[in-house]
Amino acid sequence: MILVTAAGGTTGLAVTGALTARGVPVRALVGSDRARAALEAHGAQVVRGDLEGDLGAALDGVESVYAIWPNFDEGEVAGAPRLFRAARAAGVRRVVYHSVLRPGLRVMPHHAGKAAAEEQLDAVGVAWRVLQPCAYADNLDAAVREAVETGQLRSAWGLSRPQSFVDVRDVAECAAVLLTEEGLDSGTFEVAGPEPLTAADLAERVTAVSGRDVVAVDAPASPDRGTYAGRCLATMFDWYRDHGFAGSPRVATALLGRPPRSYTDHLADVLGTVGGAAEGVPPASS
Ligand SMILES: NC(=O)c1ccc[n+]([C@@H]2O[C@H](COP(=O)([O-])OP(=O)(O)OC[C@H]3O[C@@H](n4cnc5c(N)ncnc54)[C@H](OP(=O)(O)O)[C@@H]3O)[C@@H](O)[C@H]2O)c1
Repeated sequence: MILVTAAGGTTGLAVTGALTARGVPVRALVGSDRARAALEAHGAQVVRGDLEGDLGAALDGVESVYAIWPNFDEGEVAGAPRLFRAARAAGVRRVVYHSVLRPGLRVMPHHAGKAAAEEQLDAVGVAWRVLQPCAYADNLDAAVREAVETGQLRSAWGLSRPQSFVDVRDVAECAAVLLTEEGLDSGTFEVAGPEPLTAADLAERVTAVSGRDVVAVDAPASPDRGTYAGRCLATMFDWYRDHGFAGSPRVATALLGRPPRSYTDHLADVLGTVGGAAEGVPPASS
């Protein structure tokens, strides 16, 4: 039995699906019943519990934990190591920690929190593996759908710096490999998409896949820097704007046994294309 934490989020749902598709029994820890139906449809055993509370019952009989902490949550720096210790105390054989590409970029508080949590893995004394994903292509899906309507792809990270967006399904497949295959302990594995793309590159691909003319526009975000989540978002967009967020696809290719999905392939699924043009979308203006 594998326990997946924060299982009702984007990542948790995808990892749960990847594991159950392999026939692996999954216990999905959720904070509410919001995603219960989707997780049960994957065949997972759904349990409610607070990541900040006593996880003894959730960990009972568990062989491995896929440790996801909710996004932009200040509790991660103490809470993730507490989860690792609770897993060890419960006799769990292995923890796989869902980190982020380049957690050493500590100017972003959520990266710093993950770097600090990774540091604790050796000290806890449980077998461990770490997955470090780049930004998900899926983060942009709502903006892409809007762009197909308006002709403008709004970018909060400017127009000139690239990111190696990765499809969350590939992230989940890599996680499933780390949770089910031998010979990977004490390893840290980056998961980046196949090519670094600027917002302008993304707009070109949306145009090609949807058949609708789309241009990228600079749309700076202004998160509330007075909150932890707001500071994470603000420093993240600042970093992406100045430096981008690119990585190598080599490790993900090795884990998957194939290259990670291209952004064009991701778009084709999001926009439901038939023969190269999105269903129901008017053709590009001539
Ligand atoms: N998005 C990306 O591009 C990206 C890239 C790399 C790494 N990551 C990392 O991936 C991780 C997961 O992100 P995500 O966007 O998939 O997750 P998320 O949307 O933040 O979802 C996490 C889930 O955790 C549950 N939750 C919140 N507080 C809880 C608590 N105290 N106890 C139990 N459950 C609780 C929430 O659902 P319920 O309460 O309804 O169950 C929520 O659905 C984050 O650490 C993020 O930094 C994300």
